[in-house]
Amino acid sequence: MSVRESLGNDHKAIEQRLDELSNAVEGASWVTILEVFRKVDRGLRAHIDGEERYLFPHFEASHPETLEELRAEHAHARKALDELMIQTELHTLRKEPIDELLGQLRAHAAKENLTLYAWADERPQGEPQNGLFEFLEERRMALRDDQPEESA
Ligand SMILES: [Fe+2]
Ligand SMILES: [Fe+2]
Repeated sequence: MSVRESLGNDHKAIEQRLDELSNAVEGASWVTILEVFRKVDRGLRAHIDGEERYLFPHFEASHPETLEELRAEHAHARKALDELMIQTELHTLRKEPIDELLGQLRAHAAKENLTLYAWADERPQGEPQNGLFEFLEERRMALRDDQPEESA
């Protein structure tokens, strides 16, 4: 599976969870909201941490400006998660900041498809992967674990 496909699925799952959170704040209990928020938080942080650890180092020399932009967008997303967490704990979380983050992540994902993921998929076979494959596999398994359990 290509990097674009694999991490593209991750983007879709993260967007879906954020959308779920955005709907949950309009009436679900705070227990449910906190539960959904934790999934969003865990999934998004694991995704961006992994990109920085396993993908960025390969393109630091060839594309420093783009990586700087992506890194700044990651920092922004982490900060947004910190703020949403506080709002969740204070029970003041509203729909708008969630939808705002969702919009930013969609733009970020579109940029990654054209840059980071495209470069990763163009890399010659046999070049050292340095943990990239393990990262993709880990994200794939995380997505599987994240599926709602089948009712017995
Ligand atoms: Fe990213
Ligand atoms: Fe990404």
